Amino acid sequence: MSELDKMTDWSKLKGMIADSELGDKSREVDEGKLLDHLGARVKGQDEILNDVAKLIRLSWKKQERQRPICSLLFLGPTGTGKTELAKAITEFLYGDERDMIRFDCSELSNPEMAKARLTGSASGYRDSETGGQLTRPMFANPRRLILFDEIEKAHSLVFDLLLQLLGDGRLSEQGSGKTADFTQSIVVLTSNAIADQMSRATKGMKDYHEVVNALKTLLAESGTFRPEILGRIDKVYMFKPLEGMVVAEIALLKIAKLGKEYGLSVRFVAPELVMKALEANVKVSKFGIRELERILFDIFAPSLVEMRDKKAKSVTFEADASGRIVCKAVDA
Ligand SMILES: Nc1ncnc2c1ncn2[C@@H]1O[C@H](COP(=O)(O)OP(=O)(O)OP(=O)(O)O)[C@@H](O)[C@H]1O
Ligand SMILES: [Mg+2]
Repeated sequence: MSELDKMTDWSKLKGMIADSELGDKSREVDEGKLLDHLGARVKGQDEILNDVAKLIRLSWKKQERQRPICSLLFLGPTGTGKTELAKAITEFLYGDERDMIRFDCSELSNPEMAKARLTGSASGYRDSETGGQLTRPMFANPRRLILFDEIEKAHSLVFDLLLQLLGDGRLSEQGSGKTADFTQSIVVLTSNAIADQMSRATKGMKDYHEVVNALKTLLAESGTFRPEILGRIDKVYMFKPLEGMVVAEIALLKIAKLGKEYGLSVRFVAPELVMKALEANVKVSKFGIRELERILFDIFAPSLVEMRDKKAKSVTFEADASGRIVCKAVDA
């Protein structure tokens, strides 16, 4: 160890420098860059993305906060980008999609288990050392997005915890008694309960406040949410069903992603091939957008594997006269 090394704890200093850099950054979000990032991952929901990016920029800037940065409720049919948007926000703001903590609320319908899972078991009980799956990761890193999927399925005790989290920005862990801080986090709730009813009720409405009012009223009247929870949520967004061109855009994103998984960059995909995938998807449309991924895999993965074996780096997908796939390497 050199003299200099003995003089200071470098790892601590590194941490302090990193912290101070984060400190500066943590009050500045470039709305344009955030919007570009979200738009690259989530298609066909532009109004929502615009509003989310603006809200995050404004809320992020606050110097003092006693609550999470913002709390959002994403409504709308399955497979329309709700979880995808939550992931994209996490990736941009916190650097890694894995900084998102996700709970499937259908697994939080039993009050005892739900409480133990989120905030840990009381001391003396089995597993009390492990802590809660919500509180424990927050001790290690409070800069996270917390996603509660299908929130309407959670037990009302979960709503009580949520009220505390959204109201005070803090939650105590049972067992350790330590308090988790949520003032640097973003909370997203999703629900596709009464989605049809909601899209019918808001059809034709243009004004955002009118839409939100109608949605909140419907959610409260149907008993889906307690009014005090709705009162704590900063913004409610209704995701639109995806249209043909948007699905085509998503298909291209997914082909590029599939290519990347094989270490290949996909430079071009003939529209005929995208159409073929979309037509196959329509036949199974009741399974939604998720089936599209399997269809694309069936069409494109064999050629990607072949090209990978040939040590290609970039490929194009064209169609021959009979519409069959022709994959070419563009660099090897
Ligand atoms: N608007 C969209 N833009 C880009 N990709 C999308 C969009 N909607 C869905 N997808 C793709 O479809 C898949 C499923 O979407 P996602 O998980 O966001 O659905 P969801 O709205 O959360 O549905 P659920 O209510 O069933 O949870 C994701 O892998 C995503 O890539
Ligand atoms: Mg989802």
